[in-house]
Amino acid sequence: MASVEYAKGLEGVIAAESSICRIDGENGKLYYMGYPIRELVKTCSFEEVTYLLLYGELPNAAQFEAFKKKMRGSRGISEPIKAMIRDFPKESHPMELLQAVVSYLSGYVEHRIQHDAHCNCRNTLHQVSQLATVVAALHRFRSGLDYVEPREDLSHGANFLYMLRGEEPTELEGKIMDDCFTLHAEHSFNASTFTARVVASTLSTCYCSISAAIGALYGSLHGGANEKVMDMVDEVGDVAKAEEWVNATLDAKKKIMGMGHRVYKAKDPRAIVMEDYLQQLGELKGETKYYDILKKIETVFRNRMEEKGKPIHPNVDFFSGAVYRLLGIPTVLFTPIFAIARAPGWLAHILEQRSDNRIFRPKALYVGHQERPITPITQR
Ligand SMILES: CC(C)(COP(=O)(O)OP(=O)(O)OC[C@H]1O[C@@H](n2cnc3c(N)ncnc32)[C@H](O)[C@@H]1OP(=O)(O)O)[C@@H](O)C(=O)NCCC(=O)NCCS
Repeated sequence: MASVEYAKGLEGVIAAESSICRIDGENGKLYYMGYPIRELVKTCSFEEVTYLLLYGELPNAAQFEAFKKKMRGSRGISEPIKAMIRDFPKESHPMELLQAVVSYLSGYVEHRIQHDAHCNCRNTLHQVSQLATVVAALHRFRSGLDYVEPREDLSHGANFLYMLRGEEPTELEGKIMDDCFTLHAEHSFNASTFTARVVASTLSTCYCSISAAIGALYGSLHGGANEKVMDMVDEVGDVAKAEEWVNATLDAKKKIMGMGHRVYKAKDPRAIVMEDYLQQLGELKGETKYYDILKKIETVFRNRMEEKGKPIHPNVDFFSGAVYRLLGIPTVLFTPIFAIARAPGWLAHILEQRSDNRIFRPKALYVGHQERPITPITQR
């Protein structure tokens, strides 16, 4: 076995081969199965992208019709699931509920599939279809409102907004929500995807893998940066205060949320799409405050960084929170929305892991005691 150097956080370590996602960080490019993300958003729905991630190719018209029918037909949730959502402790975070619900959902899948370690995730689309329904139901119940039945005539994004609000969104809002899902559907070996693959590598079920991935996404170092961006925007409050606020924050050696990325050294291509949508939505709704504040923060921050020879650009989270807010989505749902979007990516990686599996078993660099005698408890 080749000896491998220790890398904290596995930075730079290649953990598996993959043909799902390519990130060209130097040039700010992202590809799913070889297709540029900006082209996918322009041309395909989230459901088509889900098919692409699960099958490796874009569907033809007949394949897509059949797939869409299956995905949309799986949107509804049963009474016990609704009861679970209703009864879950109100103080808990929606991500905790989501993780628990995914495990619970597995009990409602055909017995044969559930107990087959190699269960075909492509046949159990509940993880993708129903996560949106669960999140919308949670929001409705916690707001004292009734559950809204999903509709099969709407896209994944439009249906999610419909279930959340009880009213059909405009075409643009539906398209933007759908594209937000596409933009977050996949991003190579991040912590939650790696978690999903580790669990899948033990030949556990896809439900257990997805549930574990949701647990990983919940952490504030992974999902949730866009929540912090909105806290920042609220704190700044007014575009006239943005410059002073950024300067004071940087002088205090604090980070500006939504700026910078470990992989992208150019502007995150997803941020470019999000920025455009924020501008469009802001103008449409007569609420340009968020866009104006964010653009001012970006300009001041980038000027300060360039003075130090550090070109740092916005990442996807910089604009996404404001887009969600203009779509009427409360901040606490931002990370659950990330989970809804990422489900196809996780499933794609679970399938890929199983296609050429070897259980993950890294080593630890042991730094503890070598060997020592036990002192009897009365003498300790
Ligand atoms: C994403 C992040 C963790 C990447 O960190 P990283 O890989 O260490 O970033 P870099 O190596 O490019 O950082 C280079 C320098 O710029 C600084 N920098 C990077 N992002 C910054 C930010 N958002 N605000 C202020 N300074 C920042 C770093 O502190 C570092 O400074 P130093 O050279 O004096 O140590 C970091 O940019 C960050 O914390 N961003 C804000 C949080 C966020 O938006 N997270 C979501 C990511 S999708």
